[in-house]
Amino acid sequence: MGKDKLNSRINTGESEIGTRFQRETKYSPDKMGGHALDWNSIPGQYKQYESPIAIIQLPEPLRKGETNLWNLLLERRSRREYNAGRSVPLAALSSLLWATQGLTARYGDTFFRTAPSAGGLFPVETYVSVRAVDGLHQGLYHFRPLTFDLEFLQTGDLSKDLTEAALRQDLILDAQITFIWSAIIARSRWKYRQRAYRYIYLDAGHIAQNLYLAAESLGLGACAIGAFYDDEVNRILSLDGTEETVIYMASVGWPAETKNNR
Ligand SMILES: Cc1cc2nc3c(=O)[nH]c(=O)nc-3n(C[C@H](O)[C@H](O)[C@H](O)COP(=O)(O)O)c2cc1C
Repeated sequence: MGKDKLNSRINTGESEIGTRFQRETKYSPDKMGGHALDWNSIPGQYKQYESPIAIIQLPEPLRKGETNLWNLLLERRSRREYNAGRSVPLAALSSLLWATQGLTARYGDTFFRTAPSAGGLFPVETYVSVRAVDGLHQGLYHFRPLTFDLEFLQTGDLSKDLTEAALRQDLILDAQITFIWSAIIARSRWKYRQRAYRYIYLDAGHIAQNLYLAAESLGLGACAIGAFYDDEVNRILSLDGTEETVIYMASVGWPAETKNNR
C-alpha cells in the first residue's frame, strides 16, 4: 500500500477496531441479517455462586431522603472525596442495590428492574467491594436481585487492590463502597449477536445513573469509574474476562465538605 493511502487510512481510522465496530454492528434496512432465536438455549438471567462464604439477606431499602427528582438532577455531581472514617448503614447499601437493579414488576416469567435493559435480557451483574458498611465484613459481595441478597465471596479490604487496578485513582481508598459491574455477554449476544456489545454498555449507563441519583438522595456521593485495567479487575473478581468481564465501576461514600467535591 502506498504511503499516502496508508496515511489516509490511519487518519480516517477506517481500519481501527472502533470504526469497524461501529460499521459492522450497524443496523440498516438492507442488512438486518435476521436470525431465528433459539429459545432452548436462552442463557439464564440469574448468576449464583456454588459455595459463597455466606448469604446476607438485605434489609428493606430506605426510601427516605431527597425525593424530588428535579432537585436530584440539579444537585447530582461526581463526588470524589469522602469522609473515610464513617460507615454506611446496611439499609442504605440495600437502597443503592435496589435503585440500580431491584426488581419492580413481573410479566409472565420475566422480572423487570429499576433500570431498563435491551430486550429485557439483563446482562449486567453487580458486585460490591465493602470497606465500611454497618454489619458487613469488609470484602467482596455479589448481589442477587431475585432473592434480594448478597453472596459473600471474599474477605478483606480490596480498596488498595482496586485503586491500583483503577489506574491508581485514590478515590476508591476512602470510599465506603465500590460498585463493580460486569457483563455476562452471552445473555445479550443470544439475541443481538455482535450488536450486543453496544447494548451492554448502554445498560450499564442506565444503572450507573440510578446509582448517582439514589446516592445523592441519601446524602451519599458517587463517582463513575471507567478507567481501569480490565484484566486486573477481572483477576480480583475471578472473572474470565471473555464470557464475563468487568464493564464499569463506581465509588460511593459520605461526601467530604471540600471545594472540589461540590
Ligand atoms: C463512562 C464514564 C466514565 C468515567 N470514568 C471516570 C473515572 O475513571 N474517574 C473519575 O474520576 N471520573 C470518571 N467519570 C466521571 C466524569 O469525569 C464526570 O461525570 C464528568 O467530569 C462530569 O462531571 P459530573 O458527573 O459531576 O457532572 C466517568 C464518567 C462516565 C460517564
